[in-house]
Amino acid sequence: MKKIFKWAGIILGTLIAILLVAYAFIYFRVEGRLNKQYNEVAVKPVKIPSDSAAIVLGEHIANIKGCNDCHNVNYEGRIIIDDPGLGKLVAPNLTTGKGGLTTRYTSYTDQDFVRAIKHGIGKDGKSLKLMPSYEYNSLSNEDLGALIAYIKSRPAVDNEVPAITLKPVIYVLANFDKFPLVSAEKVDHAAPGIDVVKPEVTPAYGKYLAISCTGCHRDTFTGGEPLIPGSPQVPNITRTGSVGKWTESQFIETLRTGVTPEGKKLDPQFMPWPMAKQFTDTEIKSLYLFLKNLPA
Ligand code: HEC
Ligand code: HEC
Repeated sequence: MKKIFKWAGIILGTLIAILLVAYAFIYFRVEGRLNKQYNEVAVKPVKIPSDSAAIVLGEHIANIKGCNDCHNVNYEGRIIIDDPGLGKLVAPNLTTGKGGLTTRYTSYTDQDFVRAIKHGIGKDGKSLKLMPSYEYNSLSNEDLGALIAYIKSRPAVDNEVPAITLKPVIYVLANFDKFPLVSAEKVDHAAPGIDVVKPEVTPAYGKYLAISCTGCHRDTFTGGEPLIPGSPQVPNITRTGSVGKWTESQFIETLRTGVTPEGKKLDPQFMPWPMAKQFTDTEIKSLYLFLKNLPA
């Protein structure tokens, strides 16, 4: 009997040791990715307008890109995830109040905004965490300039949010690319960029907007496994999925009300329809056209 316990102990001890070594390996690999310097990335300057029409456009871009989902309604920052396994994921205060950009850094320039939003790189030259710059890299210079002008126009809000802390589950998920932790990695830093995109009902304009859906519905828009453990399966939104069965007005109705033609209520915690709701008719129609015309 004693012998069995001894062997069980040895086996258990060995397993724990193997797991610890594996975790240490994963931890250092992910830390390496987070500490990589991106100083060689050329950040092209973008003209930041100041007229009121540009601020209105910038507000619209911020709304349809869901900046305030993470950075909070007044851009004062918030804790996005606080979980014993995942850690604390925090979107910073983007205003000039206490805890904001201009108090955390000695200066925060327009170029720093472009680097962060378009490239997912922080002032220290390292990748930002969780910030979905991959979805903003293709913004036209006009849209990006207006967006930055709008963010800069937000009133100062004092809000000192805690620092980001990462726990083992995040490291494991990030290691297997199951969690979009390392923002700068997914970005094509050398993409030429475009000056202006015309808002007109075309599949091309739909494609320009649909990049906001790829983070969850995948690059093929065919959906897949839940993104965070415990959240719902992500549906296929191509013509082989739901969108193929719906008319244009049913698609518009779904994104505006969060209820599908089949009567399914979309959970705004997982499918950000309150963000999609703010697309103009031209934008929603273009999205529909694009999704409907994707190759099967
Ligand atoms: C999914 C959540 C999420 C969304 C959506 C998001 N951000 Fe962020 N953003 C973050 C997080 C988290 C950080 C902090 C990353 C870090 O400190 O490593 C960040 C960092 C930033 C920074 C850099 C701040 C700094 O201290 O260096 C800027 C600027 C920024 N975001 C602007 C935006 C804008 C503009 C949008 C919309 C176009 C946006 N973000 C959308 C999560 C998000
Ligand atoms: C943060 C992740 C996320 C983003 C971003 C996102 N979706 Fe979704 N979407 C989901 C999830 C998850 C569901 C399923 C929700 C549920 O079951 O309650 C869903 C459901 C849907 C549905 C209903 C499909 C069906 O068969 O019922 C449509 C349509 C849809 N999304 C369109 C879009 C479009 C268009 C965009 C981009 C503008 C987008 N989604 C962006 C996660 C996302």
